[in-house]
Amino acid sequence: MRPTHPRIIFGLHRSRHERRLLTRALELGIQAIDTSSNYLGFQSHTTLANVAGDLLPRLTVSTKVGYFPGAQHSLAPDHLRTAAEQAASDLGREPDVVFLHNPEHSLIEAARDDLLEAACSTLADACAQGLCDRWGISSWDPRRLVVPAQRGLPRPDVLMARAGLLVSADILDAAERLAERLRPTELWGMSPFGGSTAAAVWDGFDSRIFLREPRTSTPIQAAFRAAYRLPSVGAVAVGTDNPDHLGELTDALNLEVDDNMIHQYRELLRTRSQPA
Ligand SMILES: NC(=O)c1ccc[n+]([C@@H]2O[C@H](COP(=O)([O-])OP(=O)(O)OC[C@H]3O[C@@H](n4cnc5c(N)ncnc54)[C@H](OP(=O)(O)O)[C@@H]3O)[C@@H](O)[C@H]2O)c1
Repeated sequence: MRPTHPRIIFGLHRSRHERRLLTRALELGIQAIDTSSNYLGFQSHTTLANVAGDLLPRLTVSTKVGYFPGAQHSLAPDHLRTAAEQAASDLGREPDVVFLHNPEHSLIEAARDDLLEAACSTLADACAQGLCDRWGISSWDPRRLVVPAQRGLPRPDVLMARAGLLVSADILDAAERLAERLRPTELWGMSPFGGSTAAAVWDGFDSRIFLREPRTSTPIQAAFRAAYRLPSVGAVAVGTDNPDHLGELTDALNLEVDDNMIHQYRELLRTRSQPA
């Protein structure tokens, strides 16, 4: 599947939650932000409402539930329901999308596959009751999110998985298998730079080899654009504290990816992941 209109979601995981960044995002045509109940020390929702409450109606807001103060993760329906209610209250508006945040975390510890079904149903019910518009699953490690075939899980609106050149073959494969199994309406990518463009890996090669016309971009822009094909996603959640960087990311959406190079890269990753 080749997305025709790639979109940017401004991710707030590592962001300072400054109004000027949200204003710049809107100026650039970025209409979506992604946060979580646990971002900014569990203060992300209230901070957003305080610094940019008037901007929030112009943005599509996705958030996540699953982590609770005290470094606890839970898929208990009453915890998730309370967190969804709290999100709407703290933001001052219902979020557009509420994700289960890394559900694999609790599933591994509890080893009970009925937990996922109950958690998904809780978010689907929350949407049906007007607490959110859509619901989804955001999984950092989809290898650990095995959904038994016999389970009748509600179909999520959105699945969000890691995207980009730094994602390993087994995680890419697992995300695609999960998408096939769950059949979400949309697949989003996240963390296209693995959390930092200052990491040494980005100095080691020129990502512009993944573009049809390499001369028109920077390596960071090329890496960002390539992330929409690894795996194939319609939107990518990316973080920055620099308004100029937001502009560079927006410009990168016009770049054309060389699908043949992406295919070769996937093959290379798969070969590398085979045991010697
Ligand atoms: N499990 C989950 O649900 C989960 C996990 C991780 C992430 N996410 C989502 O994905 C979003 C992004 O992921 P992430 O925060 O891990 O990191 P990321 O987007 O992979 O990388 C963020 C880093 O990229 C740099 N950057 C961005 N644009 C740049 C540019 N044009 N030039 C140079 N550097 C640039 C930023 O530095 P500057 O500040 O200097 O620009 C920042 O340090 C999160 O905010 C969140 O919404 C979800």
